[in-house]
Amino acid sequence: MQLVGSSALVVGGAGGLGAATVRRLVAAGAMVVIADLAEDAGSALAAELGDHAVFVKTDVLSEDSLGEAILAATDMAPLRVSVDTHGGPGGGRTLDREGNPLAFDTFMQVVQIFLHGTFNVLRLTASAMSRNDPDPETGERGVIVNTASIAGYEGTIGQVAYGAAKGGIIGMTLPAARDLSVVGIRVGTIAPGVFATPAYGQSLDAIEAEWGPMVPFPKRMGQPNEYARMAMAIIENPYFNGETIRLDAGIRFQTKGSRS
Ligand SMILES: NC(=O)c1ccc[n+]([C@@H]2O[C@H](COP(=O)([O-])OP(=O)(O)OC[C@H]3O[C@@H](n4cnc5c(N)ncnc54)[C@H](O)[C@@H]3O)[C@@H](O)[C@H]2O)c1
Repeated sequence: MQLVGSSALVVGGAGGLGAATVRRLVAAGAMVVIADLAEDAGSALAAELGDHAVFVKTDVLSEDSLGEAILAATDMAPLRVSVDTHGGPGGGRTLDREGNPLAFDTFMQVVQIFLHGTFNVLRLTASAMSRNDPDPETGERGVIVNTASIAGYEGTIGQVAYGAAKGGIIGMTLPAARDLSVVGIRVGTIAPGVFATPAYGQSLDAIEAEWGPMVPFPKRMGQPNEYARMAMAIIENPYFNGETIRLDAGIRFQTKGSRS
């Protein structure tokens, strides 16, 4: 994938994993749209990166706002890369200690933001990419990277909604790649283990002390830049398609575990 002369959309680009990906894409020569709900963090990152990045306030559930973000990208250069790292709400247990069921709205909201939001980004970016000229060397028109979680395979207590949503992202990866093969767009998904980001709502030292020792090797949380390196590997390798790759240093969640 030729990044110089291309634009890239990073949804959730103001967050931990997203911002690291934005930095790598800019360093590789792409023009990047930071598409995120967080205005202050997104604008500050765009200002720091200068001419190669712009911020567009974006909600993954809004076709209009995603459309504006995509337009901002295609105004700069053909959109050839989309990386979706948006976050969302936590869930809860199927039943609480008193036997009350998880609110149906809570379940639906988690699935809507993580799963439906991911498909919204995928379908709209794929449509824009399908209008690109194919890369003369690889035939590619674009590449889309989704973010699942190892909770999509082994969700812990309290992750019934999050696990369902992330499992859905894993499940859509192959059929989406098959659908988009006809237009030369690849789809890959990263399933991170535990990464040190603001998503945990605690200081990085506190989360490292809690989760780092549970990781086999290296015995620490992942760094956002390590997620970004995997995203770049998917983007740059024309033979990677239709697969979800765990990036977890060997951790397997047990019954009780991380909120990731
Ligand atoms: N950090 C981890 O350990 C970990 C592990 C597994 C999976 N993940 C997944 O990786 C992704 C990124 O996580 P992170 O740790 O970087 O989180 P983060 O909280 O640091 O960043 C998430 C970003 O998404 C943005 N966002 C939230 N809702 C949005 C919406 N509706 N539309 C657009 N943007 C929205 C937030 O403003 C934020 O900037 C998430 O999908 C998360 O589930 C993270």
